[in-house]
Amino acid sequence: MTALDFSAAAVDKARRTLGDWNGELVQADFFAHSPDVPYALVYERAFLCALPRKLWPGYGERMAQLLDAGGRLAGFYLFGKELKGPPFPIVRPALEELLAPYFDLETDEAVEDSIPVFAGRERWMVWRRR
Ligand SMILES: C[S@@+](CC[C@H](N)C(=O)[O-])C[C@H]1O[C@@H](n2cnc3c(N)ncnc32)[C@H](O)[C@@H]1O
Repeated sequence: MTALDFSAAAVDKARRTLGDWNGELVQADFFAHSPDVPYALVYERAFLCALPRKLWPGYGERMAQLLDAGGRLAGFYLFGKELKGPPFPIVRPALEELLAPYFDLETDEAVEDSIPVFAGRERWMVWRRR
């Protein structure tokens, strides 16, 4: 398993929290990271909604590059129309515009146990790479 963040502070904190962990912690930019072998699964949580909207157009293509054919992008997506953020929620047609060119939506479920800042606004989704 690989965990990635471009913030040195986040990677340091993760290293301290995880302790003796078998996975790989990488300090890198999501938009530049290129693993030796594509992943079978990418877990998304509060990442797209942390990105400034001007970076969104590259998100779907980048996720598609990181995953094998048949691989899955699974995680929590924050929906809404609020312009101010972070977090920056997305509207469904905009998310489909990012992901549908590369992925088929397999699972789309309400989330009942969100943390308060996301309550009632996030959905659990699994997108399968074509
Ligand atoms: C809202 S936090 C969510 C962190 C974690 N997924 C969670 O749910 O607790 C968003 C994280 O994305 C990282 N981030 C933002 N842009 C990034 C990029 N281009 N490449 C790598 N990490 C990035 C930030 O440093 C931050 O730690």
